[in-house]
Amino acid sequence: MQTQTMKIAVIPGDGIGKEVTAEAVKVLKAVGDRFGRAFELEHLPWSADYFLQTGVTIPADGYDTLRAFDAIFIGALGDPRVPDNRHARDILLGTRFELDLFVNYRPVTLLHERLCPLKGRGPADVNFAVFRENTEGLYAGVGGRFKPGTEDEIAIQEEINTWKGVHRIIRHAFEFAKSRGLTKVCMADKSNAMTHGHALWQRVFRETSPKYPGIEATHYYIDALAMYMVLDPAQFQVIVTNNLFGDIITDLAATFQGGLGMAASGNIHPGRTSMFEPVHGSAPKFAGRNVANPMGAIGSAALMLDTLGLTHEAAAIDAAILAAVEAGSGTPDIGGTLGTNETGDLIARTILKS
Ligand code: NAD
Ligand code: IPM
Ligand code: MN
Repeated sequence: MQTQTMKIAVIPGDGIGKEVTAEAVKVLKAVGDRFGRAFELEHLPWSADYFLQTGVTIPADGYDTLRAFDAIFIGALGDPRVPDNRHARDILLGTRFELDLFVNYRPVTLLHERLCPLKGRGPADVNFAVFRENTEGLYAGVGGRFKPGTEDEIAIQEEINTWKGVHRIIRHAFEFAKSRGLTKVCMADKSNAMTHGHALWQRVFRETSPKYPGIEATHYYIDALAMYMVLDPAQFQVIVTNNLFGDIITDLAATFQGGLGMAASGNIHPGRTSMFEPVHGSAPKFAGRNVANPMGAIGSAALMLDTLGLTHEAAAIDAAILAAVEAGSGTPDIGGTLGTNETGDLIARTILKS
């Protein structure tokens, strides 16, 4: 039994982020007990509350602080009291950029037919991974507003596509497929309209795919991809796309899994400190009511452990989530009668008994 201590930064954030993070932490503690693992969890207060009290979104040495951990777990950020979302930009997007977490890995796995809104679709039809480029695109923040607040206002937001950025995410998607024995990678762009930036995606995909001869490389325009995801999700194994499109299609894909409360994600730079979070946001109207589904957050903790090499521990969490879903247990969004807290208790108990 290994006892190496894993140091994990925990940023609960805002709204339901705090509640689902508490359940993910509970489950990590259960994993620690069950597997004899020491997790040193350090809670960081960065959030809307912290910003409103101190005027600080993330301290000047915040990204360096984060780099010293083995991994980062984050709940969600977003609060109506901070309408421009600047704290979320600095904490969430800032960490993605500063730690160069270029892979946004969003697995899409349906655990039970009952949870899928697509007619007649079951777990065999919904099982793919989305790789979202996470450090550039329209999120780079390049642009500005001229004459703001007037009828002459000009607002420019540039989409940044670099060869390095596009190449590393496309290559990562193929390497993932290869390592899992998968046979298909689909790239989605909008190169029919975005004739400069997305021509680069076309070129890199065309040049990279022949290096993976066992893998069928396909392409859809993003609008058609959205349509095919609904019509025939079973055709997908790995999807790779840019930052904004990846954001949008993973909310769509979350509905296939039973809703946003079920979807997990990782912001990863292979071999470096990476950050894990549910796909959903802070859902202010659900906050403080013990109704938010913590399974996406708990599944993100499993992704974190898997990425840290703790594969048995990760599998135990996934098995406990699956057992809860199969028993019909969980929060109301997936048809259950449990609260956030009780769902976390159930999953933690299952792990301790496993
Ligand atoms: P959201 O994901 O917070 O919620 C949208 C809806 O999805 C909710 O009203 C609810 O019906 C459902 N939902 C989400 N999470 C759920 C859960 N765990 N259990 C059950 N149902 C759940 O998206 P939004 O309303 O567009 O955004 C709210 C705030 O969160 C905004 O400030 C936004 O910027 C922010 N946000 C943050 C992140 C993040 O931190 N990663 C992600 C998305 C949105
Ligand atoms: C996500 C979120 C963020 C994003 C927001 C909060 C900026 O929607 O992680 O999916 O767009 O990346
Ligand atoms: Mn999103």
